[in-house]
Amino acid sequence: MGYKVPFVDPRTHYRNYKGEIDAAIFDCLSKGDLIYRQQLHNFEEMLAAFVGVKYAVGLGSGYHALLFALMGASIGPGDEVITVAHTFVATVSAIVHCGAKPVLVDVASDFNIDPDLIEKAVTERTRALMVVHLNGRICDMARVTEIASKHNLVVIEDAAQSLGATFDGRGAGSFGAAGCFSFYPFKLLGGFGDGGALTTNDAGIARMASLLRFNGEDRDTGEYHHHGQTALLDNVQAAVLSAKFPHLPAWIEHRHRIAEHYGRGLEGVGDLRLPCFRQERQKDISQNYVVRTTRRDALRAHLHNEGIETLVHWPKPMWEHRGLGLTNPGLPETEAICREVISLPMSAETTFEQVDYTTQQIREFFSRRGPDRR
Ligand SMILES: Cc1ncc(COP(=O)(O)O)c(C=O)c1O
Repeated sequence: MGYKVPFVDPRTHYRNYKGEIDAAIFDCLSKGDLIYRQQLHNFEEMLAAFVGVKYAVGLGSGYHALLFALMGASIGPGDEVITVAHTFVATVSAIVHCGAKPVLVDVASDFNIDPDLIEKAVTERTRALMVVHLNGRICDMARVTEIASKHNLVVIEDAAQSLGATFDGRGAGSFGAAGCFSFYPFKLLGGFGDGGALTTNDAGIARMASLLRFNGEDRDTGEYHHHGQTALLDNVQAAVLSAKFPHLPAWIEHRHRIAEHYGRGLEGVGDLRLPCFRQERQKDISQNYVVRTTRRDALRAHLHNEGIETLVHWPKPMWEHRGLGLTNPGLPETEAICREVISLPMSAETTFEQVDYTTQQIREFFSRRGPDRR
């Protein structure tokens, strides 16, 4: 169905930036620059500078960044990697695909790993801590790095949803051995298909990712150093991402204003829990606006009927997908989140009028049905 308020609006996005996007694509196609050309190198430089690291390696997806980060840190069979279950499945799949065992711990009320639970999950096999900066909010990297250094763990940051988020002024993706980003179209910085990048200060990890994305080949010598994958960020994608890059600060600012507007419209409504977390050290980018209610499914159906598109990240705990072969780690907060969360429309194109309409419909929902009914 065509929504009055779509979750994201790629057509309007394209219309708004058509001149810059078309010029970037034309530049690549007219020069025949398709694979591993200057446009990719330029984008990698831009990204590394923005994140605050020495190297950025453009890849086919965020998943590849996660996998290559683990492989670059020599994590494999016999190793355990601590991470969360409240994340996109790719976080955990990357751990499984490198041969290691994911050890899932619970998140705190800000949807990120609960630092108080990390140490209990450490065993003599634990090699890495893969933290996920979810919804645009960076984890408490002071606690994470302190725990990691105490137990000699490699930190890998899944920053797929948090390009531009900072902790004490330092960028997400610059703390760990590697940061992993996704340029899936609906991320803050989105391409026109899949794309990703790994950021690092470690020359060895950068080289490993550069080789693995070319099926293990060193492009200068033709030597195959590993069994790698076909996982290079396309030149045309890189050119489009570079064209969009200068807009990032304005898009982040817009998202903050949209989030504040939601907050004003939804304060005290029903049993809603709004995403207002402490911001002293963390600065988030409002990638998603996620609220919680025990009447989530009914609210979602109501909004759908009123032409408002919402998403649920994610409706059932990862371990309940039998095909993933995970055992139930017993994570009460993750389970509650799966029952309660709903993501409201949020993008660079979301307007204040759309937020007003959405908050009005949410208030309407809670006033019509009384406070207790589910
Ligand atoms: C938290 C998280 N991790 C990893 C990924 C994987 O990124 P990609 O879809 O580019 O492989 C995503 C993307 O949706 C994500 O949101």
